[in-house]
Amino acid sequence: MDLEFRPTQLTEARIQMLRAVTGKDQPFAADVLSGRVKFRECVHDGRVVGHCIGNSATGEIIGLSVDQSYRRQGIARKLLSLVVDLLLADGVQRIWLEAPSDSTLPAYRFYRALGWQPTGQHLADGIEIIELPITNGGNPMAAAPQISPPP
Ligand SMILES: CC(C)(COP(=O)(O)OP(=O)(O)OC[C@H]1O[C@@H](n2cnc3c(N)ncnc32)[C@H](O)[C@@H]1OP(=O)(O)O)[C@@H](O)C(=O)NCCC(=O)NCCS
Repeated sequence: MDLEFRPTQLTEARIQMLRAVTGKDQPFAADVLSGRVKFRECVHDGRVVGHCIGNSATGEIIGLSVDQSYRRQGIARKLLSLVVDLLLADGVQRIWLEAPSDSTLPAYRFYRALGWQPTGQHLADGIEIIELPITNGGNPMAAAPQISPPP
């Protein structure tokens, strides 16, 4: 399958949509406009089938998803690793995200398979904070199998 991984083209409408979807408001918008929010997407046959967003101002991975019919092909692993690289290049010391703590959900299995670790911090509604252990400033996910060369 011919997959392309590329920076997401951002329009003002898209930024507005992301603001609503993520629940982030002014600081997030400022981080987007300053270029500190990193967007990568995976495209197949001209259609976006996965995306990942991370904020190097906070170290947070804000969003990651892959279309149902494209899952279990390494797309999320690749997208996340690309965004982690971008955050590390910006000097981020701690990379973290809010994830479901329900072990039956794909996201729970996915992050643990890739070495992310629980911090013990739990938020409301079955959400926990997990983080990626950073060793010597390197991306521990970079050793993950590559399914396509970076753009
Ligand atoms: C979580 C999600 C992003 C994973 O996307 P994906 O492209 O299928 O993930 P990958 O193919 O890169 O998976 C990498 C590894 O994670 C683990 N994994 C991923 N999905 C899994 C599942 N449903 N069950 C068990 N392990 C899973 C596996 O170890 C997998 O490697 P393998 O396929 O060689 O066994 C996807 O299921 C999704 O979009 N879910 C809904 C949105 C969501 O929950 N996003 C995260 C919010 S915090």
